[in-house]
Amino acid sequence: MTIQEELSATIQELVQPGKGILAADESHPTIAKRFKAIGVESAEEKRREYRSLIFSAAGLGEFISGVILFEETLGQNSLDNVPIPKLLASNGIVPGIKVDKGKQPLVNAPGDEITLGLDGLEDRLEIYKHQGARFAKWRDVFHISETLPSRQAVEANAEVLARYAAICQSMGIVPIVEPEVLIDGNHTIERCTDVSETVIREVFHALYRHKVNLEYMILKPSMVTPGKDTPKASPEQVAKATLDVFRRAVPAAVPGICFLSGGQTPEEATVNLNAMNSMGPQPWALSFSYGRALQEPAQKAWAGNLDNGQEAQAAILKRARLNGAARSGNYRQEMED
Ligand code: 13P
Repeated sequence: MTIQEELSATIQELVQPGKGILAADESHPTIAKRFKAIGVESAEEKRREYRSLIFSAAGLGEFISGVILFEETLGQNSLDNVPIPKLLASNGIVPGIKVDKGKQPLVNAPGDEITLGLDGLEDRLEIYKHQGARFAKWRDVFHISETLPSRQAVEANAEVLARYAAICQSMGIVPIVEPEVLIDGNHTIERCTDVSETVIREVFHALYRHKVNLEYMILKPSMVTPGKDTPKASPEQVAKATLDVFRRAVPAAVPGICFLSGGQTPEEATVNLNAMNSMGPQPWALSFSYGRALQEPAQKAWAGNLDNGQEAQAAILKRARLNGAARSGNYRQEMED
C-alpha cells in the first residue's frame, strides 16, 4: 500500500456512519484523577484491567470505529493475554495513539500554555506504527479569559499542531488535530464563539502552510458553549453556535469533525451532538471522540472490582450506542432508560 492508500483506508474506517472514537488515552496523572474519583489507586495492573475490560465489551465495534490509547496501553496485553491493539483490530476497531507530551506554560504569555512533543516524534511514530497504531492524536489547549488566549499562544500552538499533522501523514498515520478551547471560566457563549473561530482559523492557516492534506485528517474540537461557571446553554444554542463557527472556518475537504466532551456530562455530550446532527446536512461528518462522556459511567460501575466487569461493559456499550444514534440525529431521551 502507498502512504496515500494507507491514510485513505484509515480515514474510511474511522469516519463511518453510526460510529465514533473512544478516547482512552489518559496520561498517568489524568487516569489517577479519574480512578481517585471512584476510590481506586492507579497502578499499572489496575489500568490494564480497566482498559482491557472496556475494550473487550462485546459489540463495541458496532459503535466505536477507533480507540486512542496511551503509550503504556499500546504495549500491554488484555486480561486474556492478547496484545491490546490486536484485540481492538479483531473487533473492527482501529488502534490509535496519543503522541503529544503534555503542556507547559508559554514563556512571555502569562496564563497560556504550549503543547510539547515534536522532538523525536518520527522515531516514536515508527515504533507505535510497528505496534499497530494507525492514527495519532495531539492536543493543544486554549484558556479563555478577558485577555486569553494571547496572539502568541494561538499562533505557536497552531504551528506545532500543524507540524505534528504533517509528520504523521508523511508516515502513513492519520492525525487527529485537537485544539481544545477549555470550558473553564465564566465566559459567555459569544466569547467562546470568538475564541473558537480565531483558534480554528489559525489552525487551518498553519495546516495549509505545512501542506497537510485536509482529506486525510480529523479535527477534534470542543463544542462552543458558555463557561462552566455560568448557566448552561440549550442544545439548540450550542449546536447553532458550534456549527456557525465550523461552517465559517473548517474547509469542506475535512472528512470528519469528532468532538471532545471537555467536561460536559455524558448525557449533555450526547444531546448536543444529536442537536447538531438534527440541523440538516453539513460538509463534514459530525461525530464524537469522547473520553469522560463515554467512560464515566463505566468507571463508576467497575469501581476497581473485576466482579463488576459486566456492568462496566454494559455501561460503556450504552453510551457508545447512544452517541452512535446521535451521529444521525436519532437519539431520543427515552433511549436512556
Ligand atoms: P474528554 O472527552 O474527556 O474531553 O476527552 C477527550 C480527549 O481526548 C481530550 O484530549
